Amino acid sequence: MDFNLSREHLLVRKMMAEFTENEVKPIAAETDRTCQYPRENIEKLFNLGVMGMCVPREYGGAGADPLASAIAIEELSKQCASTGDIVATHNGLCCDPILTHGTEEQKAKYLPMLTTGHKVGAFALTEPNAGSDASKGQTEARLEGDHYVMNGSKVFITNGYVADVFVVFAMTDKTKGTKGISAFIVESSFPGFSVGKHEDKMGLHGSPTAEIVFQDCIVPKENLLGREGKGFSIAMQTLDGGRIGIAAQALGIAEGALAEAINYTKGRAQFGKPISKFQNTQFVLADMEMGCEAGRLLTYQAAMMKQQGQRYTKAAAMAKLFCSEHAMQTTTKALQMFGGYGYTKDYPMERMMRDAKITEIYEGTSEVQRIVISANMGL
Ligand code: CAA
Repeated sequence: MDFNLSREHLLVRKMMAEFTENEVKPIAAETDRTCQYPRENIEKLFNLGVMGMCVPREYGGAGADPLASAIAIEELSKQCASTGDIVATHNGLCCDPILTHGTEEQKAKYLPMLTTGHKVGAFALTEPNAGSDASKGQTEARLEGDHYVMNGSKVFITNGYVADVFVVFAMTDKTKGTKGISAFIVESSFPGFSVGKHEDKMGLHGSPTAEIVFQDCIVPKENLLGREGKGFSIAMQTLDGGRIGIAAQALGIAEGALAEAINYTKGRAQFGKPISKFQNTQFVLADMEMGCEAGRLLTYQAAMMKQQGQRYTKAAAMAKLFCSEHAMQTTTKALQMFGGYGYTKDYPMERMMRDAKITEIYEGTSEVQRIVISANMGL
């Protein structure tokens, strides 16, 4: 078993570490303070080939593998979890299902838009009364001649008010439960599509989250993704991959917080010596280091399993659960080391802690991950 990253993966790491240091870090605090979508950096990430990086070259992508995408998200999230989230959603929740389930025509039309075309993607599953119980969505799509008429609304949609292309889930047959859900590719320019409430969130302020409303929205028949009735399975499969992205995001937040904590405790003297010299500090930092290493192994393993075509549902859920809880613990304990300074906006710790919290909630709460893991243990 080889735990070393390939030359290509090391190059992705280096490129993304440099981009994060030079472009992301300088604006991360301001992005959080002003709740501004980091548009210029997303444009640069399109130019670098990171947006849609796993899309094959024939459709405008970089032909990268899921591990490369995870490394990119991890590096970005060390300084700005919002940027990591925008990329994770675009790559994992929009490009991936179109690539996996799309017809040749759909791939030829939409994947170049989502790569060289600089169009941002999103994923619309959650509804006000269908969060963890994702099968209970009420959004409906009725076939009328050459198009579907879609009615309903979706909430908490990442990239919601900036995205051009959405993978949307709607009931095409209400009598069939999960077998009555279908997936669609919906453009924000389709008649009847609109953006509703912009969410004012605790963290992840640069990541644009919104409600999406469909009012007699006209979706061409050819935009059905996969077959009618396959939507729930497509959503679950997509979320398996998406959870690797959130694991990578949470891992990056934890690694970023650990680096900040090491730097701060080495420079902060109390009781006559740097606080990094106190055993209490060292033990806490040791636990953080160990957790990051474990999280990295889980995340990279899930990415490799996806790449190799193995079933990775449980592996992705474990990586997401472990990394998100580790990110929350690490940011909380790192903030404690900063004392009163950590509670101010002069340091990034309070932002990192607020950003970490969502990783325990979206793309399946920690409780949902435990459902998925236990459901795959043959109990
Ligand atoms: N891959 C493929 N198919 C799957 C699957 C998977 N990983 N998991 C389940 N399925 C299939 C099952 O095989 C089953 O099919 P059959 O009926 O043919 O056997 C069908 O789906 C139903 O499966 P379950 O009975 O297990 O489904 P359930 O209703 O009990 O739900 C759940 C299980 C795990 C709780 C699921 O509802 C779930 O993951 N909920 C969380 C939803 C979620 O993560 N939402 C996040 C929204 S997106 C987001 O956050 C991003 C953003 O933009 C903010």
